[in-house]
Amino acid sequence: MRIPAALIEKLAKARHVAVLTGAGVSAESGVPTFRDAQTGLWANFKPEELATPHAFHRNPKLVWEWYAWRRETVGKVSPNPAHHVLAAMQSRFTRFTLITQNVDGLHQRAGSHDVIELHGNITRTKCFKEGTVITEWPDTRDVPPRCPRCGGLLRPDVVWFEESLPEQAITDAFAASRTCDLFLSVGTSTVVYPAASLPFEALEAGATVVEINPQPTPLTAQAHFVLEGAAGVVLPNLLASVNVA
Ligand code: OAD
Repeated sequence: MRIPAALIEKLAKARHVAVLTGAGVSAESGVPTFRDAQTGLWANFKPEELATPHAFHRNPKLVWEWYAWRRETVGKVSPNPAHHVLAAMQSRFTRFTLITQNVDGLHQRAGSHDVIELHGNITRTKCFKEGTVITEWPDTRDVPPRCPRCGGLLRPDVVWFEESLPEQAITDAFAASRTCDLFLSVGTSTVVYPAASLPFEALEAGATVVEINPQPTPLTAQAHFVLEGAAGVVLPNLLASVNVA
């Protein structure tokens, strides 16, 4: 794919680059996207029946086991070129902010640091009652295990439907979107709010907005540049073009 010269110029000059990633970035690692009808998690499960506080109240064992399965899936896959390029980009610009909706931790495994995780991380566990992150608990037969502090049930540290996003993460994400010179929206359907409003915030604040996605989204018509294709192909191409500019 040919990267437009005007985009290479904008990127080469950018001082603050902000990136929003979604499930599409992990697709090439083998993590199913949410809205892929054929292979997506939603084809086999109804997340709205599993990823809610109500579901956990109703059947904590089922919800814990579903996440245990997802954690195992994620543990078996590796970061792909898209994750690696985004990790390399953090030292290429004066300021670089990586915001993700993904809960798989693959950005960090590729070497990205200070990632703003809007929807939490599946590898972390917290107490359902207290909200405290718990790293160790006694090995009993309880499913889910119990909080060693208060005896409450443990749950994954992810954002469920009907729950608010972590306050600091969303504040930082909005601030970065409003102050960046260039905003990249990669592999997200741009339909789940408030994350979906970030590229529009960047547009309003005057940033150059670039979308990387093989499919159109509600952002496509308004983005300054649309690079239609897989993140694992387009991102390496983009970074290589800027590095030779
Ligand atoms: P979706 O599954 O909604 O969208 C994935 C997007 O990735 C689609 O637009 C695809 O076209 C695109 N895509 C697929 N393969 C790609 C590739 N190789 N390279 C680039 N793009 C590709 O996932 P998200 O937008 O991340 O929230 O979904 C947002 C949120 O919806 C999730 O974080 C989750 C869900 O509800 C929570 O769990 C709270």
